[in-house]
Amino acid sequence: MYVARFTFMMRLSLRFIVPLAVALGAIAYSVAPLVDDLTLKWFMRDLDIRSKLVASAAQESLVELLTDKARDKVRLQRVQAFFNRLLQDERLFALGFCDTKGVLVYKTGALPPEVPCRAPGTTDDGTGAVLKLSGGPLYVAASPIELDGQRLGEMLIVHDMSFVERRSADTKKYIVYLFAALGAVVALITVVIAELSFRGWMAGIKALIRGQSLALSPQPRARELRPIARDLEMLVQELDAERRMRDEAQISWTPEALRSILREDLKGDEILIVSNREPYIHVRRDGRVEVQRPASGLVTALEPVMRACSGTWIAHGSGNADRDTVDDKDHIMVPPEKPAYRIRRVWLSKDEEAGYYYGFANEGLWPLCHIAHTRPVFRAPDWEHYREVNRRFARAVESESRTADPIVLVQDYHFALAPRMIRERLPRATIIAFWHIPWPNPEAFGVCPWAEEILEGLLGSSILGFHTQFHCNNFFDTVDRHLEARVDRETFTISYGGEPTEVHRYPISIEWPPAPLVTQPPVAECREQLRRELGLGAEVRVGVGVDRLDYTKGILERFAAIERLLEIEPHWIGRFAFVQIAAPSRSSIEEYQALDARVRAAAQRINARFGTPACQPIVLRIEHHDAAQVYAHYRAADLCFVSSLHDGMNLVAKEYVAARDDERGALILSRFTGAARELPEALIVNPYDTEECAAALAQALALPPDEQRSRMRRMRTLVQEFNVYRWAGRMLLDAARVRQRRRVGSGTRRRAQVVDLRVPR
Ligand code: G6P
Repeated sequence: MYVARFTFMMRLSLRFIVPLAVALGAIAYSVAPLVDDLTLKWFMRDLDIRSKLVASAAQESLVELLTDKARDKVRLQRVQAFFNRLLQDERLFALGFCDTKGVLVYKTGALPPEVPCRAPGTTDDGTGAVLKLSGGPLYVAASPIELDGQRLGEMLIVHDMSFVERRSADTKKYIVYLFAALGAVVALITVVIAELSFRGWMAGIKALIRGQSLALSPQPRARELRPIARDLEMLVQELDAERRMRDEAQISWTPEALRSILREDLKGDEILIVSNREPYIHVRRDGRVEVQRPASGLVTALEPVMRACSGTWIAHGSGNADRDTVDDKDHIMVPPEKPAYRIRRVWLSKDEEAGYYYGFANEGLWPLCHIAHTRPVFRAPDWEHYREVNRRFARAVESESRTADPIVLVQDYHFALAPRMIRERLPRATIIAFWHIPWPNPEAFGVCPWAEEILEGLLGSSILGFHTQFHCNNFFDTVDRHLEARVDRETFTISYGGEPTEVHRYPISIEWPPAPLVTQPPVAECREQLRRELGLGAEVRVGVGVDRLDYTKGILERFAAIERLLEIEPHWIGRFAFVQIAAPSRSSIEEYQALDARVRAAAQRINARFGTPACQPIVLRIEHHDAAQVYAHYRAADLCFVSSLHDGMNLVAKEYVAARDDERGALILSRFTGAARELPEALIVNPYDTEECAAALAQALALPPDEQRSRMRRMRTLVQEFNVYRWAGRMLLDAARVRQRRRVGSGTRRRAQVVDLRVPR
């Protein structure tokens, strides 16, 4: 710091003070002769006046003496005595009198003989001139002496000019002193100001580097930096982004990495999650309260994030024992075995649940966004409930947040309106909305009667996330089509009223290593156990499907492919069994009830057609399985079949890969899942193409171990790297960037307001 300041001062001296000294010297040098000339003119005018005064004062007495009848000698004595009296004036050097013929008749002793009666430059009206003589310059004036208009001669009045030279030398000396003093004062002021500015600039630059805006800087002196503040801020941000990118590439994404983002980038800011589905549901069964983990990709992904970040998860309390397990503020700490964060439960009436959840969300938006050829149903009362429930959750966010600017993670299609409602209540919150399901094209979305309200609601968020760029692009197109908004596809930003919304792709994933894997026995044991459980021989190959019982999952299409396989490759009859785990889901909805019936019927029919006493081709398990049971199935199976007709991501595919630490097994994956874009090593199929799917099943069953290993290894590396901590981490890093930019922006806005007040309107 001291070295920097010293260097700064030295440079300042060289760059400013030295040129200042040279300039002042030059000015002094050129000003001195001018001042000399001017003072000489003043003195001459002075001497002229004095000479004329002396002449007019002497006129009468001198005429009297000259016309006196006294003898010449006496007259000479008297004139000289008179002249000597006049010479009492110290500036008068000598006096003389010339007659009309130009002869010097009287003179005082000091009058040099070189002074003529009519010196060049003198005039008749008594104006004198300078005579440069060897003894020094003299000022000589010749004033006419007259009697009754008759000229008697001229009185020579000679002044000593040596005092002019003395004064001129003095003046030069004072000018030099003056300029030297001026230079010293200017230099001193410069150094003092530079010192103060240096401190202010240092404070300002440090504030910028720390990421504060100048307006918020406690150092008001830093205002001088404002013209370059924007550049500096951008530079700091660029460097920061570069560092972040480098760091991001090197980060190994773990819960600790997330925690460090929260600590360092977000300075421990508060995190709130809003979702419909809660991560732990308390249900009463046979008089006992049990804790259930729901079959939800969203919950699977967010739960480990929340464990790492703490915070509050606001969700619908849907379990029949939920109310019995919360405190008086509707809070409960979870996970039960090791509490790390809290759930705030929001209670919904039966009507609200029917309208908001079953109706608008699951009969309207769900089929609207999934192109699975199930018609969406929109009812005005459902919409009213949807709006009201979104408002209730926004209020819950407001009451749960301890700060004015929390980070709120709003999840999924149940809460399209909540971001704007939260923004109205907490204008400084950073709201990240994540849409876990696909976003359709503008035409498909346009059938929703409340399309604009939904878009407006989502655009209340600071960041809006989808799994794939394709869904982001669909969203841009939809906004372009339905709203008067500014859509900037280069910066991935949409501006619609208030704060801009960034739209980015964040492919969701699972935790790595997955917690349920820790307690799993070796693969061989899992295989044996499952076969024993199903009464299958060791030679029977097993496939697995794990889904919610939902029409978007393509379960019927999957069964059709199995049936076709057994038709075209009958040697698999009795040697291949497919276990379909289907978690019951949204069973109040007719479409789901119909699906349930169709799936059961299809399994029955196929089993009746190809089943043997020792091996049923389809083992249908429509019931809830916990994570450990699901992972045991993944490990026991030779293949996993994901045949979604449309899916935002599909985490089953990633879970299967994660479960196979033996690097064996084959994944058949629908091309209509987000996961297919990340896992091209899977056997990618079109679930509507039964022949292709049957062929993929045959290929999977015949896949050589080496190929299984190489495909599985690559998929595992990807899932390991792009795990859920990275998903959440990238969103939180973006949130940190948005918050940083808003801080800088609010500084700029505040400055603009100051300027506004000063400008007359
Ligand atoms: C999908 C949705 C989630 C939902 C899950 C389970 O994955 O994106 O938001 O939680 O399905 O559905 P459910 O209606 O049972 O919550």
